Amino acid sequence: MLKAQKKLGIEELEELSGSAMNKMTPNQFGQLLKDYFTIQNVYSAAIKEMSTKLEILDSEFHFRYKRNPIHNIQSRLKSPQSIFNKLLKKGLDADLKTVTDKITDIAGIRVICQYIDDIYTIAELLTKQDDVTVVSISDYIKRPKENGYRSLHLVVNIPVFFSDRKENVNVEIQIRTIAMDYWASLEHELKYKNPEKIPAEIKAKLLECAETIAETDKKMQDIYKTLLKVDNTKTE
Ligand code: GTP
Ligand code: MG
Repeated sequence: MLKAQKKLGIEELEELSGSAMNKMTPNQFGQLLKDYFTIQNVYSAAIKEMSTKLEILDSEFHFRYKRNPIHNIQSRLKSPQSIFNKLLKKGLDADLKTVTDKITDIAGIRVICQYIDDIYTIAELLTKQDDVTVVSISDYIKRPKENGYRSLHLVVNIPVFFSDRKENVNVEIQIRTIAMDYWASLEHELKYKNPEKIPAEIKAKLLECAETIAETDKKMQDIYKTLLKVDNTKTE
């Protein structure tokens, strides 16, 4: 753990040149880095806990219905650099309380599902667990972003138990289909390579791709439901 913290600190410091660090005093920056190491352990425990919850739901689903609604689970801990940049962007103070209260995606989990219905099933099964408190829900599937981005975003708060205390921790969960993830990954990559330079006609093409993908998602869902009905009539 100590080794990982040290490595992360040095790497992040190197990356920081020219960004957040320039806008902070060395003392502020040093304190924040120290704080980050303290909370890093808490947030990675929250990621483990949430991943286990999701894995349990997936295997129970497999046991009951002989299929896995979850295709893949990814997780990441927000880097100090990214936390600092977000604080600056939002004009927030760089103290520990503000970080843990206002930055809700320090622990981030992405759940890639097979079908659109699986997204809502997983979200419902997760949020009805009595140790999971819903902080916010953004449904970018029912209301896609202007650029065509689709996903269900949840911020939930879960308790994490340590040897001497309990911490209530926010975790951001993005739930999307394989097809939505395909679009979001490529769009993110294209944006990253061409920051603020994507011409209007390319934006329109990306939106068109998002719509086509959404239609395909619906068709695949219909195919699945139709085959399920055929299967059920066979066994009746
Ligand atoms: P943040 O300050 O970025 O957290 O914005 P927010 O709190 O309004 O959150 P929002 O729900 O808009 O998005 C948070 C995360 O969703 C981002 O960090 C991305 O991972 C993902 N996301 C949101 N919009 C897009 C998008 O247009 N394209 C892609 N590829 N990902 C997106
Ligand atoms: Mg967010």
